[in-house]
Amino acid sequence: MSNIWEKPASHGEILKHIWKHLDLGTLERSHPFHTPVFGTVFDNQANLRVVVLRRFWRRPPQLAFHSHSGAPKIREIQENPFVSWAFYHPAEKLQLRVKGRATIHAGDHLAEEQWQATELFSRRCYVGEAPSMESKKPTSGLPDNLIDREPTRAESEAGKANFVVVASTIDQIDCLELAVKGHRRSLFTWRDDGEMETKWLTP
Ligand SMILES: Cc1cc2nc3c(=O)[nH]c(=O)nc-3n(C[C@H](O)[C@H](O)[C@H](O)COP(=O)(O)O)c2cc1C
Repeated sequence: MSNIWEKPASHGEILKHIWKHLDLGTLERSHPFHTPVFGTVFDNQANLRVVVLRRFWRRPPQLAFHSHSGAPKIREIQENPFVSWAFYHPAEKLQLRVKGRATIHAGDHLAEEQWQATELFSRRCYVGEAPSMESKKPTSGLPDNLIDREPTRAESEAGKANFVVVASTIDQIDCLELAVKGHRRSLFTWRDDGEMETKWLTP
């Protein structure tokens, strides 16, 4: 790990580093940013779960993951779109806490684009039951005939009706970089007019 205090710090340099790792998080399955924690608030309670980071856009900054339309988090977002994300990269010693507003995309251009990019094996999840349904016995929620195999392309199409993309604006990034010589914390906030404001915080 490079020493963050070796060269002059600028918010621009830190943001470049953040963007690079969010890009890698969408591309590399083994990258720690591939599986962030995504938070909703429902009934005054924080609900956290791991998701797979599927898309990252820089301008305006946004993140997205895929989900089943029947998942509780979808209803939660419809009631309260204010969401948060947490990322941690152990080798880079980089933590990001992101705040944003989420929208659900079903049957639109983004959902179609992401569905086409989804492998048959992953499409199987959407052919099955929505997550968080009660069952009398342990269950995968998958149809019996798909339990131990990938669906054919034709079979996978049954999942399309249940497939949604959850996209979230990035309204704020609280970035913590750990270092032996002292940690460093920076805050990036995007105003409604798209302009970014920056601050330093004590870690
Ligand atoms: C590594 C990992 C990746 C996951 N990826 C997703 C995902 O991309 N989308 C999703 O809806 N659930 C994903 N899940 C399952 C969620 O964490 C959660 O258990 C499920 O979606 C039900 O959440 P809910 O009841 O809050 O809607 C993943 C779980 C793990 C462990």
